[in-house]
Amino acid sequence: MSQPTPLPVPTHSPRLPAGLRLEPYDARTAPDALVEALAAFATAQLHERQPDDPAIQPGQLAAQLRHLPPFVALPAWAVWDGGRVVAEANIALVNLDQNRHLAQVNLGVLAPYRRQGLGRTLLAQVTEAAHEAERRLLLLGSHARVPAGEAALRRAGATPGLSAQVNQLALADLSHEQLAQWAAQGQARAQGHRLDLWEGEVPGADLAAFAELTQVMNDQPLGDLDMEDSALSTEQFREAEAHFQASGRQRVLVVARRPNDGGLVGFTELTWHPARPTLLAQGATGVRPEARGLGLGRWLKAAALQRALARNPEARFVRTENADSNAAMRRINEEMGFRPYSTTTLWQLEVAQAQAYLAGAAAR
Ligand SMILES: CC(C)(COP(=O)(O)OP(=O)(O)OC[C@H]1O[C@@H](n2cnc3c(N)ncnc32)[C@H](O)[C@@H]1OP(=O)(O)O)[C@@H](O)C(=O)NCCC(=O)NCCS
Repeated sequence: MSQPTPLPVPTHSPRLPAGLRLEPYDARTAPDALVEALAAFATAQLHERQPDDPAIQPGQLAAQLRHLPPFVALPAWAVWDGGRVVAEANIALVNLDQNRHLAQVNLGVLAPYRRQGLGRTLLAQVTEAAHEAERRLLLLGSHARVPAGEAALRRAGATPGLSAQVNQLALADLSHEQLAQWAAQGQARAQGHRLDLWEGEVPGADLAAFAELTQVMNDQPLGDLDMEDSALSTEQFREAEAHFQASGRQRVLVVARRPNDGGLVGFTELTWHPARPTLLAQGATGVRPEARGLGLGRWLKAAALQRALARNPEARFVRTENADSNAAMRRINEEMGFRPYSTTTLWQLEVAQAQAYLAGAAAR
C-alpha cells in the first residue's frame, strides 16, 4: 500500500518505540490509502468490543471524513508501523456559539501496542491542540468491554461524566403485532396529531422548524457533564445535513405534527449504511414537553421501525444508546424488546490536568 506524504511532526513530540512513526493527517483531504489504513484500524478497535459487527468500509469512512461540516475542525494523528495504522487520535473542535470550552477526543491504540506510551504520546498531541484552540475540557469515551480505556483515563486524571447503556434489539425477537398496536394506540391517544415520513432530505419548507425541534434533545439527562445546551443555526443545520447526506447512510426520519397548525412536536430517526445493512442505528427521539405523555414517542419509534424494515429486509439488529438516567426512553426501549448490550462512559479531562499529567510522566 502506498504511504501518504508525511507531514512535519511537532519537534516536542515524545519518543515512540523504535520503528513506529507519528504523523498528523488532515481528515478532509485524506488520500485513499490513508483512509483504507484508518478503516482497518477502526475495524480492529470495533471488533475488540463488538466482534460480530460488520467491518467499517473505507468508502464509508472516506465519506465521513471528507465532508465534515465547515464548523468542525478535526486535527488528527496516526501512529504507523510500516503500512499499518496502530494508534490514532483526533480532536473535534466544534465552532458553534455554545460549548467553546469543550473538545471531543477519540484516542485508541491497538491491543498489541498498548502499555508502551503510545496513548500518552497521542494525548500530548490532542492536549496541545486543545490548548491552542483555547478549549479547557476534553471529553473522551470508554467502553465497558475494553477496561484498558477506563484504566488509562483514570491514570491521566479524567473523571466520569455520563454513563450510557448501549441497548440492542434482535429483530428475530421483535413483535410486529406490538408495533402495530403502538401505532394504533398512538393515533387514538394523541388525537389529531399526525406523522410524516421523511426519507431523503429534510423538506426545505420544514428545515428551520425541524432544526429548532431537534433542540428538544437538550432535555436529555447529562449527568455530571460540564456542557451547555446547544443550538445549530438553520445554516449550520443545513451544513450538518449535507454531511449526513454525503455519508451515504440511509435514513427514516419520522416527525409528529400537532393538530390544527401542523407544527412539529416530535421526531425520531433510524439510520443504516448500505455497506452494513444488518445493523440499524436508532438515533435521537424527542417530543416537545407540551406533547409528552400522549404515546407519541412509542408511535414515532414504531412507525420508523416498520418503515425501515420494509426498506431494508437485511436488518438483523437495532442499536441505541440511552443515558442510565433516561427512565422514559429506557422504558419504551425495554418494551420494544431492546436488551442491555454494552455500556459506554463519557469522561472529562481538564486540559490543565492533562498537561500536569504529561509533564509528570515526562519528568519520570
Ligand atoms: C486507552 C488507550 C488509548 C491507552 O493506550 P496505551 O498506549 O496503552 O497508553 P500508555 O501506554 O501511553 O499509558 C498511559 C497511562 O495509562 C496507564 N494504563 C494504560 N493501560 C492501562 C491498564 N490497562 N491498566 C492500568 N493502567 C493502564 C499506563 O500505565 C500509563 O500510566 P503512566 O503515565 O503513569 O505510566 C488504549 O488502552 C486503548 O486504545 N483503549 C481502547 C480505546 C479507548 O478506550 N480509548 C479511551 C480514550 S478515547
